[in-house]
Formats: sequence, C-alpha cells, structure tokens
Amino acid sequence: GIEGYIFDLDGVIVDTAKYHYSAWKKLAHRLGFDFQEDENERLKGVSRTRALEILLDIGGIKAINPEEKRALADLKNSWYQEYILRMETSEILPGVLPFLRELRKRTIKIALGSASKNAVTILDKLNLMAYFDVIVDGNKVTKAKPDPEVFLLAAKLLNLSPEKCIVFEDAFSGIEAAKSAGMYAVGIGSPQVLYQADLVFPSLEKITIDSIEKALSL
Ligand code: G6P
Ligand code: MG
Repeated sequence: GIEGYIFDLDGVIVDTAKYHYSAWKKLAHRLGFDFQEDENERLKGVSRTRALEILLDIGGIKAINPEEKRALADLKNSWYQEYILRMETSEILPGVLPFLRELRKRTIKIALGSASKNAVTILDKLNLMAYFDVIVDGNKVTKAKPDPEVFLLAAKLLNLSPEKCIVFEDAFSGIEAAKSAGMYAVGIGSPQVLYQADLVFPSLEKITIDSIEKALSL
C-alpha cells in the first residue's frame, strides 16, 4: 500500500488560493492592467518569482529589472501576509482534519510539499503543525513545480521511495510534478484542469484511506 501521504498546502488544506489571487490582482491594478480569474490557474503551485513573471507576461510588461521584480514580489507578499495573518481555523478546507486524523491513527507518514515560503506561518496559524512529520516548503527547494524536487525531497525526508507516496494537489503544475516524481497523484478540483491526475475529487471531504486505495486498485 501507500506509506506516505504528501499534501500541497494552498488550495488543498486551506483556501489561500483566493488570497494569492486577490494580492496578485491588486498588484496588476497597481501596474495598470486587470487580472482575470480564468488566468489565475497558471499562477497556482509555482514559486512567487515564477508567478510574478507569469503575471507580468499577462500584463504585457517586459522591461523590468531584477530589483524591480523583487520589489513587486515583496509588495505582493506584504498584501498576502495581511490576509493570512487574519486567517482562522474555520478556513481549513472541508474533510482535511478528519483525513489527517485518520492518517495519524493508522501511523501513516504525512508530509507537506508546498512552493510557499509562508507555509509554516499558515500551518501554525491553523494549528496544523503537529500533523506533519516532514515539511518541505518554498524555503527548502530551488526548482518550482512542475519540477518534482519538492515531492522528491519530501519522500527522501520521509525515508520512502517515490512509488510508496501519494500527492494531493489542486494545481496543474503540481500534478505534473507528482507524476514526474513517480508518485500517485490525486487532484483536488476540476477533472478538466487536473486530467493528468490518477484520481480527481472536488475536495478532501469524504475521502478515506480505503477509498483511495480501492480507487487505485491497491
Ligand atoms: C503555492 C501557491 C502559489 C504561490 C506559491 C508561493 O504553491 O499555489 O500560487 O505562488 O505557493 O507562495 P508564497 O507564499 O511563497 O508566495
Ligand atoms: Mg496548491
């Protein structure tokens, strides 16, 4: 069976995706263009720097030096942090706590595999730190999803080979990363977007270890 469960953070455990979007939208407005929700998918799962580059590309902004880029990324992050510091445990997505508790009870290893440099702040704020054996976040990796680095490092720190691991992801780039890491991938969201996943569910609600293993014929 599966020995390691690896979770993305934003959009899987907590709906911070809406806060990222609001902060990027504010930055777009500051730069003089609008940023529509249908284009937001491209920014999910990738690093802050990469997300900024995609946003600038959407806005048709080309001439910008590295210092200016850093300043813009910092500005977005300061707005984003205002949202996350106000977050409450009620914002943990449906089904997350029962599922984490079930994994803990069965002594299955749990890791976080997130591109976010704010991951620990968020887990702390939501009282979720104690569930994770391993935390791999944006401070520990250099290559953004769809590169498999984040998940491979999580498996390594869990002492498990990739084929013993399963990843839960809401982003297209994250599913791609999990699959190229050689892991099972469960998409949380829309099957149209996450078609590369082995399984797709609308949320973690009603998901159990048995239902996952059965669906994967394990
Ligand atoms: C997550 C989100 C991305 C975000 C990235 C970096 O993977 O899905 O949208 O850009 O983390 O987050 P950070 O908190 O470091 O800006
Ligand atoms: Mg995500």
